[in-house]
Amino acid sequence: MKKPLIKINWPNKVLTEANEGDDWFNNAKKANIIIPTGCLSGSCGACEIDVNGKTIRPCITNIELSDQELNIEFTTDPYWN
Ligand code: FES
Repeated sequence: MKKPLIKINWPNKVLTEANEGDDWFNNAKKANIIIPTGCLSGSCGACEIDVNGKTIRPCITNIELSDQELNIEFTTDPYWN
């Protein structure tokens, strides 16, 4: 059975859809959002976003299946200011 698409609400009010395991950066681009990056290995924190209130590092995390929409917020970070 085909898995349902995951709905993602970005901070700019754009809604995108993703499959489980999709890349966060590519999905953000669909919403015209560029997630800042630094190390791309999970150690610097430049790419952090909050997914339903939980901070993740998109460079080392793929989009996970959820039975609810994913609401994205920018983690309070100087890169976003
Ligand atoms: S780019 Fe450094 S933690 Fe993701």
